[in-house]
Amino acid sequence: MYALERASRIYVAGHTGLVGSAMLRKLSQAGFSRTLTAARSELDLTDRNSVKAWFAAHRPHVVVLCAARVGGILANASAPVEFLLDNLHIQNNVIHTAHETGVEQLVFLGSSCIYPREANQPIGEDSLLTAPLEPTNRPYAIAKIAGIELCWALNRQHQRRYFALMPTNLYGPEDNFDLFSSHVLPALIRKMHEARERADASVTLWGTGEPKREFLYSDDLADAALYLLERPAARLAHLFCEAHPPLLNVGTGQDIRIRELADKVARTVGFEGALQWDTGKPDGTARKLLDVSRMSALGWQAKTPLDQGIALAYEAFLAGRVRRL
Ligand SMILES: NC(=O)c1ccc[n+]([C@@H]2O[C@H](COP(=O)([O-])OP(=O)(O)OC[C@H]3O[C@@H](n4cnc5c(N)ncnc54)[C@H](OP(=O)(O)O)[C@@H]3O)[C@@H](O)[C@H]2O)c1
Repeated sequence: MYALERASRIYVAGHTGLVGSAMLRKLSQAGFSRTLTAARSELDLTDRNSVKAWFAAHRPHVVVLCAARVGGILANASAPVEFLLDNLHIQNNVIHTAHETGVEQLVFLGSSCIYPREANQPIGEDSLLTAPLEPTNRPYAIAKIAGIELCWALNRQHQRRYFALMPTNLYGPEDNFDLFSSHVLPALIRKMHEARERADASVTLWGTGEPKREFLYSDDLADAALYLLERPAARLAHLFCEAHPPLLNVGTGQDIRIRELADKVARTVGFEGALQWDTGKPDGTARKLLDVSRMSALGWQAKTPLDQGIALAYEAFLAGRVRRL
C-alpha cells in the first residue's frame, strides 16, 4: 500500500474553495512540497476527457477531492439539476480516473446531509440509507451517497484505499459570503458586519434561532484528512471492508443554538444592535450533530474552539480572503 512521503504528489482538487484552500495550507505547513492543483479554467472536472488527460500528464500519488458544487438551502432549491449532475460528473471523473491511473489513496468529501432527515442524534455513520433524506438538498445528498458507494466499490473490487469524510458545517478563510448561496455562519458574519458598518439598529435573521448545529473550522477538517492519509494501512484496515462503507464523520462533537451562534458572531464583529428573528422563514431540522466517535477512536479530534474559529474567519473576511463566485 502506498505510504505518504513529503515528496508525494498530492492532487488537491478544488483548491480555491473553503476546504481545498485549507488542505493546501495544511500540506504546506506539514512540509509537503509537491502538491498539485489545477484552476477550473485549466481543468473543468465535469469533462471526463480533460480529467483523464490531466491525470495522465501529472500522475498524482494521492488525491484529495474537495471540488464540488456547494451551496445553502436557496442555491440547492433553485438548481437541483446542477447540484445532482455537476457533483456526479466531478466525483465520477476524478475518482474513476484516479483508480484508472493507479492512485491508491483518495479522500472524498461528502456532507452530513447524506444522513436521513430524522436520524437519531448524534448521527452515526451507520444511519446512512436507513430512512428518507431531507428533501431540500436531496439531489446533492444523493450525488454524495453515489460517491461513497463508488469509493466502497473500488476498495472491495480493486483493493483501493479510498475513504469518504463527512464533515459537519464548515467555516473559515476563503468561505463563500454571498448572501444567496452561503451557509449560515458566513452569512451571519457578513450580515452583522454590514449592519455594523451602516450603524443599523437591528438585523433580521431567518427562522426562530432555536435549531442546533455543529460547526468545524476548515483547517481542522484538513488536519483530519492528513491525519488519516498518514495512518499506517493496518490501523485503518477495518475501514476498508465489505461490511460497511469507508465513511468517517468529522466534527467537533458539540452543537450550539443558532441564536447563541448569532450572539457570538455579533460580539466578534462588534455589532451592538438588536437581533430579530423572522419566524416566517423555515428553520430546517431541529438538531444536527454528528457522532464523531469513530474519528475519536482513531485518535483524532478537532482543535479550534468555536470562538477562536469565528475570530479567524472574520479576520479572513476583513482581509478579503473570500470565495469569488
Ligand atoms: N462548506 C461546508 O460547510 C461543507 C460542509 C460539509 C461538506 N462540505 C464538502 O466539502 C467539499 C468542499 O466544499 P467547499 O465548501 O470547500 O466548496 P467551495 O468553497 O465552493 O469550493 C469548491 C471548489 O470546487 C471547485 N469546482 C467546482 N466545480 C468545478 C469544476 N467543474 N471544475 C473544477 N473545479 C470545480 C471550485 O473551483 P472555482 O473556484 O473555480 O469555483 C472550488 O475550488 C464539498 O465536497 C462539500 O460537499 C462542505
